[in-house]
Amino acid sequence: MGSSSGSDRLRDLQAFDDTKAGVKGLVDAGVTTIPAIFHHGPLLLESHDADVIPVIDLQADVERGHLVGQVRAAAQCVGFFQVVNHGIPGELLEEMLAAVRRFNEQPAEGKKAWYSRDSGRRVKFNSNFDLFQSPAANWRDTLLLELTPRQRRRSHRRAGAYVEAVQRLGGALLELLSEAMGLPAPEYLGGGQLATMAAHYYPPCPEPHLTLGTTRHSDPSFLTVLLQESKGLQVLMRQRQRWVAGALVVNIGDLLQLVSNDLFRSVEHRVLATTTAAAEPRLSVACFFRPDYACTRVYAPVTTTPPPPLYRSTTMPEFLSHYRAKGLDGRSALHHFRIPPPSSPPH
Ligand code: OGA
Ligand code: NI
Repeated sequence: MGSSSGSDRLRDLQAFDDTKAGVKGLVDAGVTTIPAIFHHGPLLLESHDADVIPVIDLQADVERGHLVGQVRAAAQCVGFFQVVNHGIPGELLEEMLAAVRRFNEQPAEGKKAWYSRDSGRRVKFNSNFDLFQSPAANWRDTLLLELTPRQRRRSHRRAGAYVEAVQRLGGALLELLSEAMGLPAPEYLGGGQLATMAAHYYPPCPEPHLTLGTTRHSDPSFLTVLLQESKGLQVLMRQRQRWVAGALVVNIGDLLQLVSNDLFRSVEHRVLATTTAAAEPRLSVACFFRPDYACTRVYAPVTTTPPPPLYRSTTMPEFLSHYRAKGLDGRSALHHFRIPPPSSPPH
């Protein structure tokens, strides 16, 4: 991380945030070296495992039991899968990505009006939601939509058709995961909704080896559905990642690992900074399915068989406040909720 002292760093973070122009603003200003706030330590790539990311075909005539089995295996072993025949037309995916590109590539003045860190704002643009919390900043700008129950019903005007379609898909996936966990009906995960949509823009970076597009992390969701334009997502611990064109990437989030008592895995992933050789920015849209922020329900591991609960219970406000206050620091938010193992008897 940069060698600057704490107060210098804070001043630099504030100055960057005050531009309201994000990392694209730095690129447009022609920087050839990146500011120290973006420097990460040595960037190691763990890759021990040779599993591939499974591809699950959701077409209507697949037998239900077979589908549930595939979803269970993927959620248990890999924590990630790709879905094809997901019912969202290719044009809708293209349109969504084109809208993200248009927003980010409009004149900086237009974006400034949306730049905010106010948690009360439902639509906002900023660079690094955790700019002031994380140890190093990422080369990424993000447009965030928080969807209320009312907006979900009316469909959000800025991203209407995609929101509607991805909501249906997410609902169907939550039902499959509920069945795969052996829960009574989709009831328990039924509180999961399309709560947040994060549209990311990763401009080409002049020194991509010094920073990251997104620090390694796992997600604050039951599940996440990711639309990516080019294939920069790295699932850590996997050597071979073959991303299928037109597929959406689905991953299990921390909340489902907690509720499933570690049956399903919330696996860390990250994005490398886009190189200037690529010339093009990388675009992605992550849809996080979870209960709404204000949901008062208590979530705890659902266990009918051993092991005993590995996590204490929590609520959405508690879990999400913890995740946001911590920022992406390379440690899983789940540690905070894990029940410490009984200390081993003295020998
Ligand atoms: C996320 C995420 C990956 C990407 O938003 O949680 O992992 O490709 N995004 O942008
Ligand atoms: Ni993620």
